[in-house]
Amino acid sequence: MTAEETLAKIAKDVSVCTKCALHEGRKKSVPGDGPADAEIMFIGEGPGFHENEQGHPFVGAAGKFLDQLLAQANVTRAEVFIGNVVKCRPPGNRDPLPDELAACDLHLEAQIQAINPSIIVTLGRFSMNKFIPGAKISTVHGQMRKVGERFVIPMFHPAAALHQAALKPSILADFAKLPDQLNEVRAALGRKVVVQKKKEAVVQQDEKPKQLSMF
Ligand code: URA
Ligand code: SF4
Repeated sequence: MTAEETLAKIAKDVSVCTKCALHEGRKKSVPGDGPADAEIMFIGEGPGFHENEQGHPFVGAAGKFLDQLLAQANVTRAEVFIGNVVKCRPPGNRDPLPDELAACDLHLEAQIQAINPSIIVTLGRFSMNKFIPGAKISTVHGQMRKVGERFVIPMFHPAAALHQAALKPSILADFAKLPDQLNEVRAALGRKVVVQKKKEAVVQQDEKPKQLSMF
């Protein structure tokens, strides 16, 4: 089976999976989207309301912000894989429970094996805990480290940054570092480094230069 076929098979398994109680509230499962040869895999928490309706990851408010973050990193959705630690929506968007995370890890591991990404970007603490158990996101965010064969970069969850304005500059800055980190990984793996034109940082509406009022 090709990696693409394996991903399709996992998505099919997930759509009928009953390995944890989250299947009971499932409208559409959200296996994740992206190419089977993605260099980067983003792993979030779990589907919310809109994801459960549509069957695709990060399509609600957090997804809109993730799009802005990806633009900051000079990457497009089409070139990365985006998934979650649990594939069915926790009721009321509550945190996934340990037994649900354990049950769904089988699907996530199968996806990681099939895609074999060089970099895994974790979004939020549940995803971070899988790769860097016990780490504190406030101290390790944006820092890349080697975990086994791969490089892992823990990021704040976009939804957390949406709700806590103080995190927004940090998450934007962390995503802006991604192109350089990607090249660092490519160099370490003996792959071609991609030189990109420096992009202007995304300027916030409220950060427009103010008129000088002295004259
Ligand atoms: N939040 C997540 O963690 N994942 C999604 O797919 C959507 C919102
Ligand atoms: Fe299966 Fe994962 Fe859905 Fe639970 S959350 S039912 S383990 S696919």
